[in-house]
Amino acid sequence: MAEQRGILIGTAVEPLPLRADADYAQTIPREFNLLTSENVLKMGPLRPDLLTYYFQEADFLVDFAESNGMKVRGHTLVWHNQLPEWLTNRTYSPSEMTWILNDHITTVMDHYKGRIWAWDVVNEAVLDDGSLRPTVFLQALGPEYIEKAFRWAHAADPDALLFYNDYGAEGLNEKSDAIYTLVKDLVERDVPIDGVGLQMHVDIAFPPNPADVAANILRLSALGLQVQITEMDVVTSGDPADAERQAEIYAEMLQVCLEAPACTAFETWGFTDRYTWQGTQTAPLLFDAQYQPKLAYFALRDVLSRPTP
Ligand code: G3I
Repeated sequence: MAEQRGILIGTAVEPLPLRADADYAQTIPREFNLLTSENVLKMGPLRPDLLTYYFQEADFLVDFAESNGMKVRGHTLVWHNQLPEWLTNRTYSPSEMTWILNDHITTVMDHYKGRIWAWDVVNEAVLDDGSLRPTVFLQALGPEYIEKAFRWAHAADPDALLFYNDYGAEGLNEKSDAIYTLVKDLVERDVPIDGVGLQMHVDIAFPPNPADVAANILRLSALGLQVQITEMDVVTSGDPADAERQAEIYAEMLQVCLEAPACTAFETWGFTDRYTWQGTQTAPLLFDAQYQPKLAYFALRDVLSRPTP
């Protein structure tokens, strides 16, 4: 259904349940055509020490995706969270951090060259007030670390799509304005960036305004960028009565994406309430903990089945 609408439908995946849970492994290729590495391509899991790259778990995910004809999103090359101890327990000079970050991006992307369709090159670099997040990368390299990351990524795999990815900036607010300004500047300086990921982590009590999300996607697309919904989940109170409103919110966001030519992928952050970073009791995803499809699942299928407006 997604292919007919020219959009990729994806989910974040972890290797542990993929090995251990047959229902998990069977649902993914049946329902999705895009797979995001939830954790194994983050710097912490990949880099036990400065000179070591531990690719085994990510190789397993990429092999699984390829054997099921799925595209892969690599998440994420430059992020302030889940960093290895050796990177955070001392400071590095600008030249040392330049070497470390260039080596990381180049080595990881070279290892998966031609196999990973899109990368979240830089993740969550902007704070809610629009300022740059004070990370080890900003501290050592200044704001230019973002441009450098994208240039190194493009040099490593010129065919991979390169994204800036963030949360809390789906609609129109101080943060999304700052991200718009940031990526506009990158585009104007010919920095190789292909798109922006809107994570879309939603609390059912504070749903995004579809018109604002559409307006945000439109202004980003006017820069020539793709926009993708990259990590959607909708946290509920756990009351089954929330399922209907949850379904509406999922459907609204997919509809916004389908109506925006620049919106090329719609992904959830996991797909079963059995495994979610939000806590099973919040029931944020499309299938329940017993892999039964929920109203949200059927609402997305309904949106996909509608004729293109
Ligand atoms: O793999 C280790 C395991 O060996 C160890 O025994 C265990 C206990 O310490 O930790 C395991 O690592 C955990 C990892 O998830 C895998 O389960 C980390 O502690 C834990 O912090 C990590 O949480 C992840 C979180 O990002 C931080 O990296 C969540 O699963 C993941 O869903 C979440 O995803 C983020 C996106 O990357 C960015 N956008 C927001 C989203 C939600 O926070």
